[in-house]
Amino acid sequence: MDKLIIEGARKLQGEIRISGAKNAALPLIAATLLAPGWHVIHNVPDLRDTRTILVLLETLGAKWQREGSTLLINTESLNNFEASYDLVKTMRASILVLGPLLARMGKTRVSLPGGCAIGARPIDFHLQGLKIMGATLDLQDGYVTATVKKHLTGGHVYFDVPSVTGTENILMASVLAKGETVIKNAAREPEVGNLIDMLISMGAKIDGKGSDRLIIQGVKKLKPAEITTIPDRIETGTYLIAVGTAGGEATVTNCNPSHLPALTEKLRAAGLIIKESEDSIYVSRPAKVQSIDIKTQPYPGFPTDLQAQLMVLMTLANGLSVITETIFENRFMHVAELKRMGAEIKINGNSAIVKGMDQLTGARVMATDLRASASLVVAALAAHGTTEISRIYHLERGYEDMAGKLQTLGARVRREKE
Ligand code: EPZ
Repeated sequence: MDKLIIEGARKLQGEIRISGAKNAALPLIAATLLAPGWHVIHNVPDLRDTRTILVLLETLGAKWQREGSTLLINTESLNNFEASYDLVKTMRASILVLGPLLARMGKTRVSLPGGCAIGARPIDFHLQGLKIMGATLDLQDGYVTATVKKHLTGGHVYFDVPSVTGTENILMASVLAKGETVIKNAAREPEVGNLIDMLISMGAKIDGKGSDRLIIQGVKKLKPAEITTIPDRIETGTYLIAVGTAGGEATVTNCNPSHLPALTEKLRAAGLIIKESEDSIYVSRPAKVQSIDIKTQPYPGFPTDLQAQLMVLMTLANGLSVITETIFENRFMHVAELKRMGAEIKINGNSAIVKGMDQLTGARVMATDLRASASLVVAALAAHGTTEISRIYHLERGYEDMAGKLQTLGARVRREKE
């Protein structure tokens, strides 16, 4: 296992280019199961997670090749409908093959994803929706076997909570179902919109993109897609916060500012200078940051995937800030590690009270989950002294060449074998 060594307390300066979104690429790749032939997906980041779902598609019989950031995927001859525990346990988003496989083959057996560091991560909404659409589900040995006699039939699916991958799974199941499907309280994340664009380009009939009510008229067949993955809004937010925390100024390019409505407002409220253009965002930290409160919400609210990173900015702000996590039940794993770097944080239920300090100090810390490890990198860039972050495979799941990108901003970051 590798580690990152970061010498902190250096202002960042320069330009950083954003990659395609991990949480858009994963459903786009899964959606290629819906139609035989060659699909073309542009701007796909080369990450641990995108490599994992491509291995999963290979085990199902798909073929693929990468040309730079473009993926060519052919699902003509699917010869297996099982997503094994070994693969699903390494990446819970493998559950995204459930809907398309059932729609295409009428039968699938997918390992239940199990929990992860940030929470139990149930998939009851996914399964409930497929049952409403006529699937028979059999849960045993840690797998769900889903079958449908001839084809899925459209139905009304309501999500108690606007589940992102739940919405994506039901969307992919509904496009080949017989009749109309209505998804109520659907997730409105831009990644769902990217998937909708892909499905429509394949011939699907979907209304309501961007709203919490999606109406799908099933069609008999779909054709292969050509689609571009949207920029990664969480990677964008991570680097904006990194500059705000370490100090300096930078321009984040090849991003979509309209996908970060909550973050940019919160960073301005904290005193950062944020200037947005069509596909880039300029950020600088003119003076001491002011403490602000945040509460994570489904899109377009403040993203839970940026909660840990924003918390680091608040450890160096003036005053107290209250950070409330409403999406996942255990998403404060980064707090213990940040306290080892001198942060003053008290957890009270699903809120963390952060007392701003003058500085953080470098330490040996350990990554626990994807976004917590990103927050440790942000802290290390600002901390006085050297920080060693172990288990950085967590980081490589969702950030393409993070060390290289930070080096272009003048950060002193290097990888070492653990
Ligand atoms: C997606 O996870 C993202 N992953 C997560 O990003 C992100 O944090 C999350 O959405 C919230 O925005 C991908 O898109 C691959 P949910 P997902 O279903 O779909 C509960 C990252 O760091 N729920 O929207 O699994 C659930 O427990 C990852 O990139 C049920 O109760 O999240 C949670 O409390 C982490 N039953 C809430 O809904 C269900 O069947 C929202 O979860 C499904 C979800």
